[in-house]
Amino acid sequence: MSGASGTPYAAAVLRGLLAAGESVDLVVSRASRLTLLDETGISFRDAHWREDLREWLERGADGKSGTFEVDVEGDRVRYWSAGDLAAGPSSGSYPAKGMLIVPASTACVAGVALGLSKDLLQRVASVTLKEGRRLVVAVRETPLNGQTLRNLVALDEAGAVVLPASPAFYAGATHIQDLVDFVAGRALDAAGVPHRLYRRWKGELGGGSRPEA
Ligand SMILES: Cc1cc2nc3c(=O)[nH]c(=O)nc-3n(C[C@H](O)[C@H](O)[C@H](O)COP(=O)(O)O)c2cc1C
Repeated sequence: MSGASGTPYAAAVLRGLLAAGESVDLVVSRASRLTLLDETGISFRDAHWREDLREWLERGADGKSGTFEVDVEGDRVRYWSAGDLAAGPSSGSYPAKGMLIVPASTACVAGVALGLSKDLLQRVASVTLKEGRRLVVAVRETPLNGQTLRNLVALDEAGAVVLPASPAFYAGATHIQDLVDFVAGRALDAAGVPHRLYRRWKGELGGGSRPEA
């Protein structure tokens, strides 16, 4: 997670990965702690990350506690401090299938496009690209300036999937969580992770959940 608005997207992706039986290495950038605090009221603490993660993932996009049941115990979730440049995932030899940056700030996009590796998040992104693994970048900003657009083209050319965090309305959304789950589901699609987060287009207009006339 980097420090763009959109922490509910990250929560939905994490729940989706765990539901699919994947192991997760979680990195939360320094700025992302601010957006998490702003959007959820949760202060994410390195020393109590499991507790804070559980509290966060059990909430819905409307902030209601206990909306989801999530198991973050055991070794399926590993947490790495963003300043820890010696962390396991900083090396290409660390076993990993790919990486999702959700949400991705324009600063993170710039850093990855330039290969800066200024923190663990950016380093792992560079490693993911050099190892030829799938990198999904869910950028969240609007409007986008020319520099960010050029950085996104650079990421696309480097092999990343650029996935704007832009919900669609054809899947019958009635709650904020539906819109969040659509973006999270498209990110998981791009990463090749099976999920049932949104209703897929079936080729018929009017398939959304409009009330009956
Ligand atoms: C509450 C809050 C919301 C923000 N929202 C966005 C955003 O939507 N998109 C973005 O690119 N940056 C956003 N920022 C700015 C980034 O956090 C900032 O550029 C930071 O340097 C990103 O660092 P990181 O990429 O290392 O996480 C936001 C900052 C705060 C405090």
